[in-house]
Amino acid sequence: MAKLYINEKKDMGYINPEIYGHFSEHLGRCIYEGLFVGENSEIPNKNGMRTDVVEALKALSIPVLRWPGGCFADEYHWMDGIGPKEDRKKMVNTHWGGVTEDNSFGTHEFFELCEQLGCKTYINGNVGSGTVKEMSEWVEYMTFDGVSPMAELRRKNGRKEPWKVDYFGIGNENWGCGGNMTPEYYANLYRRYQTYVRHYQKAAPIRKICGGPNSGDVNWTRKVLETCFAEPGGKNAGGFMDGLSLHYYVVAGNWEHKGSAAEFGREDWYRTLHKALYMEELIQRHGAILDQYDPDRRIGLIVDEWGDWFDVEIGTNPGFLYQQNTMRDALVAAVSLNIFNRHCDRVKMACIAQMVNVLQSVILTEGEKMLKTPTYHVFHMYKKHQGARLVESSLSGEGTAGVEDYRVPALQESVSLQADGSILVTLANLSAEDACPVELLLTERKPETVKASILTNEMQAHNTFEEPDKVREEAFHDVALTDRGVNFTIPACSVVSLEIR
Ligand code: AHR
Repeated sequence: MAKLYINEKKDMGYINPEIYGHFSEHLGRCIYEGLFVGENSEIPNKNGMRTDVVEALKALSIPVLRWPGGCFADEYHWMDGIGPKEDRKKMVNTHWGGVTEDNSFGTHEFFELCEQLGCKTYINGNVGSGTVKEMSEWVEYMTFDGVSPMAELRRKNGRKEPWKVDYFGIGNENWGCGGNMTPEYYANLYRRYQTYVRHYQKAAPIRKICGGPNSGDVNWTRKVLETCFAEPGGKNAGGFMDGLSLHYYVVAGNWEHKGSAAEFGREDWYRTLHKALYMEELIQRHGAILDQYDPDRRIGLIVDEWGDWFDVEIGTNPGFLYQQNTMRDALVAAVSLNIFNRHCDRVKMACIAQMVNVLQSVILTEGEKMLKTPTYHVFHMYKKHQGARLVESSLSGEGTAGVEDYRVPALQESVSLQADGSILVTLANLSAEDACPVELLLTERKPETVKASILTNEMQAHNTFEEPDKVREEAFHDVALTDRGVNFTIPACSVVSLEIR
């Protein structure tokens, strides 16, 4: 029997809602088909956005959406995506399948989507192939309310009021697809470009995100911070940034042969989860470097690309990164979100890659059909962690699971206290074979009610357009209230959420 101890009195920090953020790139069928079908489509839509997809996403309370890339961001010239659609310039999407990008989804459409979703906005600017002037004018176009050439242009294009840009990323993966730069070179560009990302709305300053490392590249983090925090005029205390990004993908095999998303065995299962748990070490290692410059943890670690990356589904365009989504993805999402919660003192945002039809998506579409993936259900089960207070928790007696080189803790959890006083526990059973009896113990509180739900199935189980509800969140009734907590058995390969009052 495992014991889950919860010290509901011990506050461990605020879980920024943006930890449950999403990423949408002009890649494959994420934007086009997945989110945006155009006003003239036969697929029901509102101002071009698919109604079915938007409705499903709204049920997740999406906190923030990052756009337009990814690698695409450093090739994107925003002026090509404004004005009458028939006049918009077409371009080649060189990164993603070499397809023609007609720019029918641009700045106005992005804000329309965010308005429909009710989420914050995270725009990623172009450093790799764009100019300072271009970036600065984009910010003026989006956010300036007075008399200026860009504000006039926005009005001419039909939008009177400025929009609110919550976050602005200065380039993407500038160590790779964003220009193959050295950390020192990028950091100096960062210092320069961010200067012209002006705060036109004094009451709502834009939070600036500096391009961070690829996975374990601590050298990048060190050099970028060293350069950004250097004080030529003695006037720079904050490194010019509100956040530093971190990208980490879980690749079950290697980058040449990533492995199939839906056909895999036990060893692949454990190797994938083992790699997913590495996220914790990454946060600690990069976090320790950040602590040297920012001991008060004002700067957020922004994990704005994370998730599973498998081989594309057979018969689909290799540049479109379309993959299925199984219980394995659900477990990866569950343990990653638990890790982000548990490090909410440093991790201020995380965006799963990507929202629809690309990599570890919460939604897949095919023509007019759509389905919710197992990952979708995990986000739904965890959504009340958004904006809650993390509380202290620990496990004992849960043991480990796995195969020789890839052993993992059998259970993994996070716990938060909601504004209404209820406690949300999210617990994952990483074992593919063994159920685990759990005694959940609160420190002082005598629980009165518990409402639980569960996502469970066999390892490879996934939803298809023929059987869209094979894997879904269900009420979990086999829970017993005790004087001090709750007793239950968590089945193998499952995710459970318990709301205790
Ligand atoms: O999410 C797919 C790609 O992965 C993004 O465009 C890039 O930033 C990363 O390498």
